[in-house]
Amino acid sequence: MYRNTTCGELRLSDVNKTVTLAGWVQRIRKMGGMTFVDLRDRYGITQLAFNQEVNKDVFEQANRLGREFVVQATGVVEERYSKNSNLPTGDIEINVTELHVLNEAVTPPFTIEDESDGGDDLRMKYRYLDLRRQCVRKNLELRHKMAFEVRRYLDEQGFLEVETPVLVNSTPEGARDFVVPSRMNPGQFYALPQSPQILKQLLMVAGFDRYFQIVKCFRDEDLRADRQPEFTQIDCEMSFVEQEDILNMFEGMSRHLFKVIKGIDLPKLPRMTWADAMKYYGSDKPDTRFGMRFVELMDVLKGYGFSVFDNAAYIGGICAQGAASYTRKQLDQLTEFVKRPQIGAKGLVYARVEADGTVKSSVDKFYTQDVLQQLKAAMQAEPGDLILIICDDDEMKGRKKLCELRLEMGNQLGLRDRNKYSCLWVIDFPMYEWSDEEQRLMAMHHPFTSPKPEDIPLLDTNPAAVRANAYDMVINGVEVGGGSIRIHDAKLQQKVFEILGFTPEQAQRKFGFLMNAFKFGAPPHGGLAYGLDRFVSLFAGLDSIRDCIAFPKNNQGRDVMLGAPGIIDQEQLDELQIKVDLKD
Ligand code: AMO
Repeated sequence: MYRNTTCGELRLSDVNKTVTLAGWVQRIRKMGGMTFVDLRDRYGITQLAFNQEVNKDVFEQANRLGREFVVQATGVVEERYSKNSNLPTGDIEINVTELHVLNEAVTPPFTIEDESDGGDDLRMKYRYLDLRRQCVRKNLELRHKMAFEVRRYLDEQGFLEVETPVLVNSTPEGARDFVVPSRMNPGQFYALPQSPQILKQLLMVAGFDRYFQIVKCFRDEDLRADRQPEFTQIDCEMSFVEQEDILNMFEGMSRHLFKVIKGIDLPKLPRMTWADAMKYYGSDKPDTRFGMRFVELMDVLKGYGFSVFDNAAYIGGICAQGAASYTRKQLDQLTEFVKRPQIGAKGLVYARVEADGTVKSSVDKFYTQDVLQQLKAAMQAEPGDLILIICDDDEMKGRKKLCELRLEMGNQLGLRDRNKYSCLWVIDFPMYEWSDEEQRLMAMHHPFTSPKPEDIPLLDTNPAAVRANAYDMVINGVEVGGGSIRIHDAKLQQKVFEILGFTPEQAQRKFGFLMNAFKFGAPPHGGLAYGLDRFVSLFAGLDSIRDCIAFPKNNQGRDVMLGAPGIIDQEQLDELQIKVDLKD
């Protein structure tokens, strides 16, 4: 037997017991006739004590240990002389009588502590060592717990977990596919699923009624803090449901997770239309932990000879409470912030509400105090507040810029507390969005999303105005999940494809099997998918989803530990009949 207890278990009540532990040497402290070793395993850290006078051999053995050696120690649990209140086991130590080195270790390239001296790249290269750090491991423990509770909840609601294949063909989520060559079908490729969307709809046609799957999805797209090329969805679909049924079911699932994992009673989720989210927050995933809603100021500020505003298609402002004390330097920094190419605003206008209620702005020469008072009233600003205004020659672009500024002010004023959660549904998304790149309408969600019944006539006259039965769950400005009611009528599906620019032949070639399946009695159905990585990182308060993934990719899509992607042998390429022409 390697051990009969773990490094996280022993307490004062265990004093005098003889125990055997096994784990990794975290730290060694030599103090003359005593040596102390912190022994670590998944469950915690326990102090081993070695006394030269009591057991000289074992003491000398301990002095030869190195960091990360794997050892087994047997001894008696004793009350500690100087206790460590930071450790659950900090009241006791083991007076070791027998020590076995199970394996030696070379010195690790960084310290295996919560505050490690290893940089990001180094820790990713040695991810298995990084994962030994408690702060990293606890994110994966949380992930396990959340996935487990999702399964428990959905099982109780009658959902069946069904596995769908990974070698499929292109699925329509709008990113690029990862493809896999087929040896048996030279020149042909599988695509890895961007989501199991079509397959789960086919499971509804098959009568499965309630499906879910915790499933890997693959998207070849530019990476950001909340995006990985392979990520995990909690993918769900239900039959004989309307939007309301789905929102209620999955609000229930979120409530369950908040309750059992975070101990938080989630209130009924507010719902915001996409149009309002854009109007008041400039984003389809508004961070509603704080206010600072946009106020449109075209009526208030246009027509006074300030040409920048006079020529603008959008003027919008936010009121930062209590920020009138911002210095000139801070305001210049904010101006620089919005002028960065990533945001691209031409400038920033500001107005301070003074203690006596007068307003002092950066454009005082164009506006009388009267107009500035109207601005103050429109913004509902009080003495001590700072009004920040952005304009643009495009309404949507202006809103997006103001959104960035709002989030930055939220950060600066400490309003984006990680321990506070604000969840909502964003509903009534448009069916289509215009793509400048492709010069055509694209599906905003995906092409199987059903239009709102009352907007169906608009498909013929003004498709851009059609709203979809689509919804996203947003938590703290992060889109954690999204879905829609699906089209289950082959004719309507055909029409939606047409608007997306597919000829009937193209639609038939790409999605013929789905449309064909719909002819065999498709029930009304709908669903959604959560991003598990995003959900976990929100609960863990992480900046990046990478930290809750055991072996993530870096920003170039590489696994630096495995060295993937890598080149493959010529023999393998020949077998696949693939020619690779490497320029250098
Ligand atoms: P969607 O594309 O909105 O919908 O994806 C669902 C959720 O998956 C997460 N997500 C990601 N997480 C990490 N890295 C990525 N690259 C990434 N892309 C998406 C997000 C998102 O909300 N089939 C539809 C769902 C449906 O209609 O039922 C779908 O995939 O949290």
